[in-house]
Amino acid sequence: KKILTIVGARPQFIKLAPVSRELRRSYQEIIVNTGQHYDHNMAGVFFEELNIPTPDYDLGVGSGSHGKQTGDMLAKIEQVIFDEQPDAVLVYGDTNSTLAGALAASKLHIPLFHVEAGLRSYNKLMPEEVNRVLTDHISSLLFCPTEHAISNLKKEGITENAIAVGDVMYDAVKYNIKIAEKNYSLAKFNVEKGNYILATIHRAENTDDKSRLEAIFKSLNLLADPIILPLHPRTEKLLKENGLYHLIEESTNIKIISPVSYLEMLLLEQNAKAIITDSGGVQKEAYFAKVPCFTLRDQTEWVETVEVGWNLLVNPIEHDLAHLITSFKEPSYVENLYGDGNASLKIVEHINHFFSEKEDAK
Ligand code: UD1
Ligand code: UDP
Repeated sequence: KKILTIVGARPQFIKLAPVSRELRRSYQEIIVNTGQHYDHNMAGVFFEELNIPTPDYDLGVGSGSHGKQTGDMLAKIEQVIFDEQPDAVLVYGDTNSTLAGALAASKLHIPLFHVEAGLRSYNKLMPEEVNRVLTDHISSLLFCPTEHAISNLKKEGITENAIAVGDVMYDAVKYNIKIAEKNYSLAKFNVEKGNYILATIHRAENTDDKSRLEAIFKSLNLLADPIILPLHPRTEKLLKENGLYHLIEESTNIKIISPVSYLEMLLLEQNAKAIITDSGGVQKEAYFAKVPCFTLRDQTEWVETVEVGWNLLVNPIEHDLAHLITSFKEPSYVENLYGDGNASLKIVEHINHFFSEKEDAK
């Protein structure tokens, strides 16, 4: 059987790595890279470092408005589906690449498998929320990281074909953390274990709102600790466009670096005193690393990390980030909120089952 995998943005390359490894034991996998992310440090480096097979198709769509970007992907993915005639299409997460792949598959009546299904922020202003809700409602198999995600789907009437398998990002961490520790050193970043804060900012709700963006960088400037901040190209662009880049240039504690590789990121997370982020993936990785996380958002999809006390939602305008960090008390650790690191294996087992049921029905 032939499975067409569609990816395009940084977190999708990371999720693809463990699933692809498992999938290729039993299936022919065709990888389509939409090209949503294209800088080497946002895309190519992950293929090299994680030994992901070279994509069979590079659609080269690049950046653009939501409509243009998603529309270009849709037309190109449709053509690939015509040419390849896959037995199923596999998509990850909640980006525009996810939605384009999902729409293309469903219009052509190709079974659609969604990894990271059932997550909700219940904030429809987020492009990701729209992407995941729509994708879930046209998926044939919904691979959920948690039971909570299954219950979100039930509320929307999706009661079948949703399976809690755990989080493939935990598979990725388990597989790679020792490799990261062996191959990389903090010396490259001029920091030592526990003496710095790691930060990432890129979400539209923070970068596209000038007052929020300004509040975030002003509050980072008020922290006592050195901050290592691998800067997402979106954030760099918007800081410059809004005349806010001086908040970095004049800062005495914020150290901006280019986006880092996944293994470097794991090492930086593992050894940080705290993590400040608006990323979905980084919130979970903070929990896996047992490092307190301060999430600069009003909601999170990863509610379990907040429930166990390792993740705090922080409004950058209303809350005092410095105070929240200094007064944070580490709670006890709850293991395995996101499965046991075998989500990819479970996904492939369910795909096997899906196809064998289809054969039986013939
Ligand atoms: C996208 C996803 C978001 C995900 C994030 C992961 C959507 C709607 N958003 O957001 O859910 O969390 O990826 O990082 O799909 N750019 C570059 N080089 C690149 C890529 C982007 O310079 O390689 C710049 C361009 O100016 C571009 C901007 O970043 O316009 C935004 O890129 P885009 O892919 O549209 O969205 P992200 O903010 O990266
Ligand atoms: N990441 C990385 N280098 C960086 C920043 C993030 O490898 O400079 C990894 C991070 O460890 C996580 C993933 O990228 O695995 C998260 O992607 P991102 O924050 O771009 O997107 P989100 O998860 O919010 O969709």
